[in-house]
Amino acid sequence: MNTGLITRYTGALYSAPEHCRPRYDEFRDMFSEGQLKSKLWLIQELGKHTDFSNKSIAIAGSWFATLAFLLLEDKKNTNLKISCIDIDSRCNEFVRFLMKENELETINRVTADMHDYSYSENVVINTSCEHLQDINKWLELVPQQSLVALQTNDFFSHPSHVSCVKSLTDFQAIINPQLSETLYAGELNLGIYTRYMILGRKR
Ligand SMILES: C[S@@+](CC[C@H](N)C(=O)[O-])C[C@H]1O[C@@H](n2cnc3c(N)ncnc32)[C@H](O)[C@@H]1O
Repeated sequence: MNTGLITRYTGALYSAPEHCRPRYDEFRDMFSEGQLKSKLWLIQELGKHTDFSNKSIAIAGSWFATLAFLLLEDKKNTNLKISCIDIDSRCNEFVRFLMKENELETINRVTADMHDYSYSENVVINTSCEHLQDINKWLELVPQQSLVALQTNDFFSHPSHVSCVKSLTDFQAIINPQLSETLYAGELNLGIYTRYMILGRKR
């Protein structure tokens, strides 16, 4: 990661109106070691199965788009299009202040419930599975053969987590029936919680 990512966010904290800026606790969480390591892990493992250049990517539950900007900050990733879908209107309003003028065609900001979005991208990512009551209900909306990347965790005590899992095996039991092929399944111990990730092809 380079300093470009940090200066994007600190710059936008100056320029964006207060009502859409991430709160202190959100900013702290977004740039916590666990959140950043989890996203770099996803980019590393997913990058073994796809080149990000010339791809379209949907990020469901994109929050303040750290994953999108981590992908864009890597100069190898050219001509990618990223749709950031989040139900919280503050997120994509703030994202506009993170974007450079030449990224207007690169990032599609969508304020919507991820269940109401029509997925047509090559790659569909959801690192917010722990925020959904029923991950399968959402996954059913993703077209066959899409490359999917999913993360959840065992951080049950977090107030906004509604569907954590106890283990990778439990996560696989939920997700595997919806995949025609599993490309990766792993876990990352982050101290106070463990993150689980599955990459695969949608059945
Ligand atoms: C705390 S954040 C992200 C945590 C996650 N570990 C990550 O960094 O990807 C969860 C995000 O999911 C969004 N979200 C939750 N339910 C959603 C839904 N049904 N549709 C779209 N976004 C949703 C929230 O608004 C929030 O921005």
